[in-house]
Amino acid sequence: QALALKSADTSLDGFPHYLIKEIHEQPRVLERIIREHPAQARELAELISRSYGTFLVGCGTAGYAALAGSYLFSRIARRHVNSVVASEFKYQEHFLTERSLVIALSQSGETVDVIEAVLAAKRRGARVAALVNVTGSTLDRLADFTLPLLAGPEQSVLSTKAYTAKLALLLLTAHILNGSEHVGLDLLWRAVDGMVRALTPDFQDRVKAVADRLADHQHCFVIGRGLSYPTALEAALKIKEVSYLHAEGFPGGELKHGVIALVEPGVPCFVFSPLDETRADILSGAMELQSRGGWIIGVSPEDEAVFDVHLPVAEVGDASPLVNVIPAQLLGYYLAVRKGLDPDKPRNLAKSVTVK
Ligand code: G6P
Repeated sequence: QALALKSADTSLDGFPHYLIKEIHEQPRVLERIIREHPAQARELAELISRSYGTFLVGCGTAGYAALAGSYLFSRIARRHVNSVVASEFKYQEHFLTERSLVIALSQSGETVDVIEAVLAAKRRGARVAALVNVTGSTLDRLADFTLPLLAGPEQSVLSTKAYTAKLALLLLTAHILNGSEHVGLDLLWRAVDGMVRALTPDFQDRVKAVADRLADHQHCFVIGRGLSYPTALEAALKIKEVSYLHAEGFPGGELKHGVIALVEPGVPCFVFSPLDETRADILSGAMELQSRGGWIIGVSPEDEAVFDVHLPVAEVGDASPLVNVIPAQLLGYYLAVRKGLDPDKPRNLAKSVTVK
């Protein structure tokens, strides 16, 4: 026990909190996945190609990774892969057959809603694959096939490195299905560099300055489209769960269907604008927000006229969700620190939710 506590993995390694330590571990986790996982990702790709109906399920951050997976499989592998929040899966299980494949995503492998979804799938004879961080967990043992996330222990209640590990594995698997594994691996190497750039002292200072301004606000909004829609949801979750600032993430196209009514002068609005096909539309959404007085913080490789503050991220193509989430993780951390909150143990939350 004493030895385990002293091991490098569970020590703070010179960081003041686990959350910031784990944010900083992400480039290394990604490198490990690139080096150690292609063979297992090939097996997962094989399972997907043999199945008729694939479903990604997860809760919280893992649920957003599942949603990102749907976008990745669609655009990279031209394959429809459903994503369902695990707690809702039991209301949608009726069409599962022996040819279905359920891919369960979980850091802990103990989340009760995920386990129940998996048990429902098994009752119907479907196959179960797991992307899980904790080896030997309930999910690991229940699954027919496990792809370990290789992220090392995640101590902070907020999930960070397990999220980007899941995204990396899903991106790689989608490229393998498409017959373009080397392209996927190249993209992931670019994402490693992009992550390193988002973790430099200079970039962190920029995020800290935004956190300082945000600390006195009650609400903020986060928009993204396409691959950046799950990023917007995850960014809002990271901000609200650790800083208790109300953050709402939604797809840019939904602005006009309600949320724009809430935008008042000075309200912070985060805009994810990678250089993909969403760029023109998301920037026009940003202009809508700005014309109502919104304070626009743009996360993008390019500075745009509509941004009041620009958080410059690397251009990494379809790997953008892996890099663009980092400013949001940092923002949550700095907001919590500034407000005197414990970044590792937010109120009312548990690292793994094992009871209903
Ligand atoms: C809890 C944690 C979240 C996590 C979710 C799913 O709500 O606070 O950070 O994303 O459970 O956990 P899992 O272990 O299944 O990924």
